[in-house]
Amino acid sequence: MTEALQRTALHAPPPATAPEASVARPLIRIEDVSLTYGRGERKVQALSRTSLDVPNGDFVALVGPSGCGKSTILKIVAQLLSPSEGHVFVAGREIGAVDIRIGMAFQNPTLLPWLSIRDNVMLPLKISQPFRSDWRRKKNGEYRDRADALLAKVGLGGFAGHYPWQLSGGMQQRASLCRALVHEPTLLLLDEPFGALDQFTREELWDVLQALWMEQKPTVLLVTHDLRESAYLANRIVVMSARPGRIIVDETVDYQRPRSIETTFRSDFVELNHRLRSLIFEARAAGSGAIPAGVAA
Ligand SMILES: Nc1ncnc2c1ncn2[C@@H]1O[C@H](COP(=O)(O)OP(=O)(O)O)[C@@H](O)[C@H]1O
Ligand SMILES: [Mg+2]
Repeated sequence: MTEALQRTALHAPPPATAPEASVARPLIRIEDVSLTYGRGERKVQALSRTSLDVPNGDFVALVGPSGCGKSTILKIVAQLLSPSEGHVFVAGREIGAVDIRIGMAFQNPTLLPWLSIRDNVMLPLKISQPFRSDWRRKKNGEYRDRADALLAKVGLGGFAGHYPWQLSGGMQQRASLCRALVHEPTLLLLDEPFGALDQFTREELWDVLQALWMEQKPTVLLVTHDLRESAYLANRIVVMSARPGRIIVDETVDYQRPRSIETTFRSDFVELNHRLRSLIFEARAAGSGAIPAGVAA
């Protein structure tokens, strides 16, 4: 058992008597969720009794071995999948019963090639309420200005009229972040959004995302395999075990914002990264859902 595991606060629910327990209702509550893909011989249990509370405005990074169910969690929260067992609540009500505004971005920018960058960014305003009702009236005014302002913020001011294929991968990912945020979502789901970019571009985009987050303060679930990225961006890092995934460590990261690349060279930042790395190695080695020694089930 490592000291790190002993020291890490384990996702302990607040005592029932704490006054905050009833007041601070999490925006997202994942409660004992299991998910199995396929049937019979092809059955794969991706998640096993996973629980996670995400308060409003939290920036949570989900890290863990490949295949442990990180993307599955995002898909459940986005209502693209239903859990086989357990419950997911949004603002205290069963998911599906509440309309929540969600923004998403993935490793692949998934911009539509036949639309200009501006039109790609405006897409959520065209398809989601309450914006959709005003689409015809505002698409050449307020909505267009909103898209252009966001594009300017991420350094794409001159590219609104360009098409995705005219932009580099890093620029496309900037545009995809704008699209994820243009409708001011309550919840931002990011699945390895910088995973395909080179190191320098990735670090530039950390700053872009941090600045956008500090302005809008959406609740964020960020899946990443880059530990520096998780510690740079998040205020909480949640580590998952190997498949079937469950949460084994929940660590607070309280560096002041805005964080900078300089922050990543600090000794405590480096130490945090080492600690997380060894936790993930142990989780991988434990495999098949076994919990590393010292971590409460
Ligand atoms: N549609 C699917 N059908 C069958 N198995 C799947 C499907 N999607 C994911 N899986 C499996 O479920 C496990 C968890 O997947 P995923 O959530 O994508 O992992 P992660 O994002 O942590 O790498 C993996 O073993 C993966 O192969
Ligand atoms: Mg994934």
